Amino acid sequence: MNYDNILSQTHNGITTITINRPKKLNALNIETIEELHKAFKSANEDKNTKVIIVTGSGEKAFVAGADISEFADFDVNEGQELAAEGQELLFNFVENLSSPVIAAVNGFALGGGLELAMAAHFRVASDNTKMGLPEVSLGVIPGYGGTQRLPQLVGKGRAMEMIMTAGMIDASQALNYGLVNHVTTQEELLPLCEKIAGKIMRNSSVAIGSAIKAINANFKDGVNGFDVEVEEFGNCFGTNDFKEGTSAFLEKRKANFPGE
Ligand code: COA
Repeated sequence: MNYDNILSQTHNGITTITINRPKKLNALNIETIEELHKAFKSANEDKNTKVIIVTGSGEKAFVAGADISEFADFDVNEGQELAAEGQELLFNFVENLSSPVIAAVNGFALGGGLELAMAAHFRVASDNTKMGLPEVSLGVIPGYGGTQRLPQLVGKGRAMEMIMTAGMIDASQALNYGLVNHVTTQEELLPLCEKIAGKIMRNSSVAIGSAIKAINANFKDGVNGFDVEVEEFGNCFGTNDFKEGTSAFLEKRKANFPGE
């Protein structure tokens, strides 16, 4: 599929989705959010894709936020719609995909950029990364899940401070906060993400999808994560991946998972 604002390439089981508006520091306008939705959806449905990596083009930014020029004159209803549609199309959508999503954060990850990175299943950053939720400096608050996911990832006090000060933290602080799992150089960022993806791909993609569902259940209101775990655990017993994984172990060979 051809896109105007993003690139999507699949190679060796990995689909890399690159937000490609470097002149605007990859700011997320509505068109880009819609294209990202399509690209994530088709990668998740693609049997050849085992892991999705999302990154930004250029050396300066992952994503410098939602596109401020698009919402500067919005009213209350338009503001609510913008947040609701964005959450549904992209941020909640990515978080709930059954394919693992790694954010390769390669520079500024601000506002909607940090929110996108936080919607991914985990994050790896380059050492020039700067992360923050600067929305209150514009007279607004994070609207793409930032007030919910940042405290989940770094704790309430740190999230309060980051959001209230509108400040940025650097890569080492993000590592210290547990907001990113690894920090590396710009050059090594994608190779490191691909190496981690390689380790993920050796395992059952069906079981990984179940694990994502069970882990996410812990953060959903009114859902008992332990019950979801029990259900997903049971579901695994009905899969060919489970038959292959257990047979391979007992036959002392490497598993070759069919992914079903
Ligand atoms: N929305 C729209 N355009 C954006 C943008 C955003 N969130 N972030 C950057 N851009 C645009 C700039 O307007 C500029 O466009 P121009 O060349 O047409 O004027 C271009 O990207 C380059 O940005 P610039 O500000 O010149 O780069 P810089 O290196 O001086 O500063 C930042 C980098 C990230 C500190 C600065 O761009 C910034 O503060 N961006 C907004 C961050 C933000 O508040 N995000 C949350 C939005 S809710």
